[in-house]
Amino acid sequence: MRLAPILIAILAAGISQGASVPRNNDGGSDLDIAGLSANNKELFEYGMTIMDNNFGLPFLWGTPKLSSWYAVGLLARNKGNDAEIANKLLANIVTTQYTDPSFVGYGTFIGDYRRIYAGGDSPWATKEYTSYDPNNALFVTIAGIIIDSQFSHLLDATVRANLRKAMHTAVVGDGYRVGGVGEDNLYVAYSNPWYMRCASAAYVGSITGDANMTYWGEKWAQEAVDLFDEYGTLSEFNGGTYAGVTLFAMSLAQYLPTNTTLYKHAPRLMSAIWDQVAETYNPSLTTLSGPWDRTYGFDLTQYYGILGSAITGIIGMSGSHPMPKPLDGAEHYTDMAIIPMQMLTAPYMESAISSSAKSKLNNLYADHYYTAQSIYPPYEKRPRNYTFWVEDGLSAGGVEFDENVVGGPSINQPSFSPGVVLWDAGKNGAGAGWISYYPTNPSCSIIATSSNLTIRYPPSLDYPNITTSNSLQLSIASQPDFQLGKTAFSNHTASLPGLDVTLSGNVVEQGNRSLTYGATINDLYYYNLTYTFPGNLQSGAAVPELVISWKKTAPPSYNLILQ
Ligand SMILES: *[C@@H]1O[C@H](CO)[C@@H](O)[C@H](O)[C@H]1NC(C)=O
Ligand SMILES: *[C@@H]1O[C@H](CO)[C@@H](O)[C@H](O)[C@H]1NC(C)=O
Ligand SMILES: *[C@@H]1O[C@H](CO)[C@@H](O)[C@H](O)[C@H]1NC(C)=O
Ligand SMILES: *[C@@H]1O[C@H](CO)[C@@H](O)[C@H](O)[C@H]1NC(C)=O
Ligand SMILES: *[C@@H]1O[C@H](CO)[C@@H](O)[C@H](O)[C@H]1NC(C)=O
Ligand SMILES: *[C@@H]1O[C@H](CO)[C@@H](O)[C@H](O)[C@H]1NC(C)=O
Ligand SMILES: *[C@@H]1O[C@H](CO)[C@@H](O)[C@H](O)[C@H]1NC(C)=O
Ligand SMILES: *[C@@H]1O[C@H](CO)[C@@H](O)[C@H](O)[C@H]1NC(C)=O
Repeated sequence: MRLAPILIAILAAGISQGASVPRNNDGGSDLDIAGLSANNKELFEYGMTIMDNNFGLPFLWGTPKLSSWYAVGLLARNKGNDAEIANKLLANIVTTQYTDPSFVGYGTFIGDYRRIYAGGDSPWATKEYTSYDPNNALFVTIAGIIIDSQFSHLLDATVRANLRKAMHTAVVGDGYRVGGVGEDNLYVAYSNPWYMRCASAAYVGSITGDANMTYWGEKWAQEAVDLFDEYGTLSEFNGGTYAGVTLFAMSLAQYLPTNTTLYKHAPRLMSAIWDQVAETYNPSLTTLSGPWDRTYGFDLTQYYGILGSAITGIIGMSGSHPMPKPLDGAEHYTDMAIIPMQMLTAPYMESAISSSAKSKLNNLYADHYYTAQSIYPPYEKRPRNYTFWVEDGLSAGGVEFDENVVGGPSINQPSFSPGVVLWDAGKNGAGAGWISYYPTNPSCSIIATSSNLTIRYPPSLDYPNITTSNSLQLSIASQPDFQLGKTAFSNHTASLPGLDVTLSGNVVEQGNRSLTYGATINDLYYYNLTYTFPGNLQSGAAVPELVISWKKTAPPSYNLILQ
């Protein structure tokens, strides 16, 4: 069934002001009607092909979460038996929900149906993010919002009713989560699930007439907007994966009642975030400059990040784009299940992006500095200060932070990357070169300039009794057809492919150097260059300090057939 043209025009123009019920696009399954650009459609199809090739019932990759995302794509495409498969997936998904209200993870879905549930008499100890993941409640609900709003005419009545019931249970269970209570960490600052929670509570509260849910959805959204407005940034700042999830959650505002806080503020927030991404994204390297609050890799052409496909949906797939080629089977690639629904919501998202931000994603507009601030309570009391230097063929960035944990608020050293240099290491198929500070100290000052990155360990002002580190580790990418020897950096310099590096500072001068290779970070092998230094480096005004200075050299050419 197709919408009458006049109604389509009204929906496209977003003229639904007085309405307080969710937008209902029944019949709008045609991607043209949904307003996708040619780039959006091409990426939608690319994503669907990968999932089609990997799919078999009962679930995509064994997971209800990713299956719910695929179901959105199937319903939007609606060719052949797509709708039938989507109905089967949704029927399967609702069977995997935790429905015992006394369980801490009430309302979430099993992570992988081939594993066992936690809770009750399960031999798998109840541990958040290990035996159960409360975020799955929200990950399924965000897909459910699009399905319920836009494609419910393609669902069997029972499937539709059960999906709504599961979404309601998911949001009630999500309401159990209070950051700092039990082992939970759902603080306002944990941006990606927090914005998913706001969209989910607003939508489900509205369709089920649950006034309490609507009330909390409003309260949570106001808290999110207030925290955003402190520094004009997300607390989970500049993450290749999580900025993408948060932006996607914000893009669901288009399905919310127009009198909700998220509906009113999402366009402004998305616009501000894209203005930042346009500054930290380096088109000459086709990747996001560091630092990243959380990451699964260093170069978006070498691992899949959800922000990478959001950017690709804007700039198109014909030239270089920030996704691995091919994506199927790439590092961290199963997150790509979000692509079809990301493209489906892209017209609304992209209408919030300024034309100058869009053009900055296509081409490096100029070599430039960029600074930003962000705060993540309760893990820090003062803002983090970011500095970025972005130039043709090189990006450097650092963050100043004073925290009560090591490894960032996610307490994860490999994923927290607070000081990073990326550069063009030659067209060798392995992506950009990178040097990344591996965080071992709870407070650091890392500042980028156009020629160096200074890493310092100032004493914590807010957590003076916290244990500090007496070592400083740089993780350095290995590159094909090149290797450092055991004594590299013993004279404080090394020539890497495309970059001459000099290290200085009291840490290098007085510390003991160790250079090893063989461990992995984000599944990548790297050189571990660590300096262990004496405790007396911190005395008077002096603090432990290491400066990475560089000079770009001509990127080497490789004897590899790449085209
Ligand atoms: C209302 O929702 C909040 C947040 O989910 C929850 O803590 C509270 O128990 C709910 N109250 C009622 C009466 O359901
Ligand atoms: C929006 O309006 C509807 C209808 O008047 C009302 O039921 C609902 O509570 C309102 N929602 C918010 C968030 O104010
Ligand atoms: C960030 O900069 C502000 C000044 O703008 C300063 O007050 C704050 O202490 C700095 N944060 C850290 C972690 O050093
Ligand atoms: C780092 O770069 C800045 C700006 O170019 C420069 O002033 C400073 O001297 C450099 N530091 C070192 C140790 O080279
Ligand atoms: C740090 O330790 C000292 C001495 O034990 C104590 O007096 C002070 O209150 C502690 N400060 C903080 C912020 O915990
Ligand atoms: C440092 O050592 C490397 C070999 O390890 C050598 O190539 C380089 O020239 C040396 N640099 C200086 C400044 O001595
Ligand atoms: C890097 O090397 C140092 C010194 O050998 C070691 O203590 C540290 O654990 C290593 N880092 C990682 C992440 O394995
Ligand atoms: C550095 O190595 C020397 C010689 O092995 C040792 O005596 C010293 O304690 C080490 N210093 C540190 C800070 O580990």
